[in-house]
Amino acid sequence: MERKKIIIGNWKMYKNIDETKDFLNGFNKLIKNKNIKCDYGIAASFTNLSLLKIDKSSALLIVAQNCHYQNEGAYTGEISIKMLKDMAVSHVIIGHSERRMYFNEVDETINKKLQSLFNANMVPILCCGETLVQYENKETNNVIKKQIKLALANIKAENIAKLVIAYEPIWAIGTGKTATAQQAQTVCKMIREFISELYNKNIAEQVRIQYGGSVKPDNIKLILAEPDIDGALVGGASLMPQSFFDLLI
Ligand code: PGA
Repeated sequence: MERKKIIIGNWKMYKNIDETKDFLNGFNKLIKNKNIKCDYGIAASFTNLSLLKIDKSSALLIVAQNCHYQNEGAYTGEISIKMLKDMAVSHVIIGHSERRMYFNEVDETINKKLQSLFNANMVPILCCGETLVQYENKETNNVIKKQIKLALANIKAENIAKLVIAYEPIWAIGTGKTATAQQAQTVCKMIREFISELYNKNIAEQVRIQYGGSVKPDNIKLILAEPDIDGALVGGASLMPQSFFDLLI
């Protein structure tokens, strides 16, 4: 089946308000009157999300990089889904490897966040990926299956079709080392087959699976040409208007 490609820029902890405005000025000029077929969006810091809502006709998806799973409460430093909704956020990155590595994000909290996002009718972008050591030990499939199984525990089938999964080998993030298109395809296909095992083939065919890790304008075409890769999650190359624009199809 034909799945619409989805390309998301992950700005991580980059750009203040002025830098975000500069990016948008440049990007809006580039995008004007261009016929972009894919879904595309920016995952900005919480402080910049409200700037991304340019006007009602803007196709730019507003994406958050994290959220809390509770509606509200005494959770200093956290942000709720309701707060994100106020800023027109539609998608939230969950379980990025940097959150797993530096902020003790674990599969159980990732699962709770997914539950809450689906309850709020939002789209999670669930990240998974193996470390270099796991890759070298040929543990990729087992590591990813475990991450996905725990993240999706008790998530109803009706929600899965709209899920986005981002396969991001940790050894390829920010390192300039991209997995080859063929390597990325092999893992993305494995993920789709695993979703089919957990749910069914029809649902697995609808889930969009992104690749992430040193995606650039000069390698994205080969990556997106693979049958099970439905988009990209892009860090470094999404920070400049021209290079983000050049990623879009
Ligand atoms: P990168 O980051 O494109 O800079 O490798 C990808 C990501 O962390 O999502």
